[in-house]
Amino acid sequence: MTRLEVKDLSVGFGDVIVQRQISFKVAAGSIFAIMGGSGCGKSTVLKAMIGLLRPSLGSIHVDEEDYWAASDERRAEIGRGFGILFQSGALWNSMTVAENIAFPLKMLTPLDDDAIAALVRVKLLLVGLGSVGESMPADLSGGMRKRAALARALALDPDILFFDEPSAGLDPVTARRLDDLIQELRDGFGTTVVMVSHELPSLLGICDDGIFLDAETKTAIAHGAPRVLRDECTHPAVHAFMNRERMPGDPGGLHGHH
Ligand SMILES: Nc1ncnc2c1ncn2[C@@H]1O[C@H](COP(=O)(O)OP(=O)(O)OP(=O)(O)O)[C@@H](O)[C@H]1O
Ligand SMILES: [Mg+2]
Repeated sequence: MTRLEVKDLSVGFGDVIVQRQISFKVAAGSIFAIMGGSGCGKSTVLKAMIGLLRPSLGSIHVDEEDYWAASDERRAEIGRGFGILFQSGALWNSMTVAENIAFPLKMLTPLDDDAIAALVRVKLLLVGLGSVGESMPADLSGGMRKRAALARALALDPDILFFDEPSAGLDPVTARRLDDLIQELRDGFGTTVVMVSHELPSLLGICDDGIFLDAETKTAIAHGAPRVLRDECTHPAVHAFMNRERMPGDPGGLHGHH
């Protein structure tokens, strides 16, 4: 079953086109990767998918419904099925971790305070942060902050989780734990995951399918599971990106950063 379909999508700012003619389908319950070098437009494509940027051309379908053709109210309603973890992973620093997770529940559900508190505890346990609800975000490690932001993204029991560079800036062990958690959420709840990532271990370890965006041609140059792209894609840019850890003396690869 297709949960999301992107058809001939072009995105940009004003007259500047960032990516054009992007088409792909995300199967329900899959982990789908948006790959590509720095600045190629991954976050911009993701923004169109979560309602933050109106496409210049093309369409995005959520369970066959045309997301951007819908009214603002209807689009917001569809968006309530989305859980989002931004590239900056930002929690609200003036609120405790528990208040951060409670916030979407307070804003968007009729639940009372006791029910919300119970749900917050469940979400924190789910991401392995049972004891930090009363902490302030600034007092947590980077990995814990990402988990707390994930707990917040899970607050409304999303059907689709969108991640922008979930493991960027984390050490490899912490990044691996976050990947395991994402996979567990998919396996346990059938959540569909769309993930922007540069990190080869994440891409190769947990993603079932994906698309590779190119900054030069401003369009997709490969489709498929990251592992298959690594082993079989002959496009030089894709090959270099997917095989960069195999090149001695090159710490970051083609467009390595973060
Ligand atoms: N609000 C904006 N207004 C104008 N241009 C923008 C805006 N946001 C991004 N861009 C430009 O769009 C292009 C794509 O940016 P985007 O952030 O989508 O890339 P990315 O692939 O996510 O990069 P990174 O890997 O560094 O996160 C860049 O050239 C960027 O400068
Ligand atoms: Mg980005």
